[in-house]
Amino acid sequence: MSSRTATALAHPNIAFIKYWGNRDDDLRLPANGSISMNLEGLETRTCVDFNDSLSADELRINGENPDRSATERVRRMLNEVRQLAGIQLFARVESRTNFPLGAGIASSASGFAALALAASRAAGLDLNEASLSCLARHGSGSACRSIPGGFVEWKVGTGDTDSIAVSIASPGHWDLGDCIVVLSSAPKATGSSMGNQLAGTSPLQAARVADAPRRLAFCREAILRRNFGTFASVVEEDSNLMHAVMMTSRPPLFYWLPGTLGIIQAVQAARSQGLPACYTVDAGPNVHVLCERTAVEQPVKLLEGLPGVREVRLARAGGPARLLEDSSTAEHAS
Ligand code: PMV
Repeated sequence: MSSRTATALAHPNIAFIKYWGNRDDDLRLPANGSISMNLEGLETRTCVDFNDSLSADELRINGENPDRSATERVRRMLNEVRQLAGIQLFARVESRTNFPLGAGIASSASGFAALALAASRAAGLDLNEASLSCLARHGSGSACRSIPGGFVEWKVGTGDTDSIAVSIASPGHWDLGDCIVVLSSAPKATGSSMGNQLAGTSPLQAARVADAPRRLAFCREAILRRNFGTFASVVEEDSNLMHAVMMTSRPPLFYWLPGTLGIIQAVQAARSQGLPACYTVDAGPNVHVLCERTAVEQPVKLLEGLPGVREVRLARAGGPARLLEDSSTAEHAS
């Protein structure tokens, strides 16, 4: 038997300036650039084993066989890696996450970032950060931002090879906390791949995209200067713009639950009383409440008591996707 294995870990990320809509759906070339922070404490660990005893790719996510569309997306990435490496072996893929799947915490981001790194290494490739980011993007747009560490910007780029994510500040640059308010961990009715394809049907998307360079510049600058006031206003504006596009797409997408609005209003009220916190919401009902870590105890206490809140998880800025020690990239023969 010949087997080549590698294991990688990647964090999901929370977007401060959101990716929503593609100019090329197949390559996942985004309509606008985006900025995010990797989330330490939340992670996906993926082991890939290219093995000549297999007659088909095998995939398990958290111990279960995923549905057909997830399996197809993984197979597509494995095919790309096989083609790059010039191999034909099938792979066994085992992936585990320590947070709810498909509920507004970007499990596809950490999932495809970990898969891109583990699969490419197991296949004998040694891709640089830019190529890994590009490969991860093909699986899920936001996954390209989970390859570099800390605070990350995904450049809109001119084509496939330069629409990649780069780190703009290390995890230690700014002690920002993300209180993730979990209202539901049920899978969403419309996944973000489909939602991204619908973005262009909203008459608001063109205006949102045209204004993106301004929001990106504000957000980048606020992060680099650790200016929470500017950061809070642009992050909330950007989240609201994305949800306005979602709600006005054809068909319209409503990811919020009643509790989502309750939390948004509670954060706004607390900020007017002096709490340095702001909200952002991805493609799901859960709310990410961002604050400087010196003040993190206050929002957690406030949020835990609100209607519909099941859990509040705390994350800070996380590192890049990385190989785990037990990765043996060497070929085993037995
Ligand atoms: O990469 P996808 O297809 O999971 O899309 C992610 C879209 C948002 O999470 C809503 C925004 C973002 O930039 O992460």
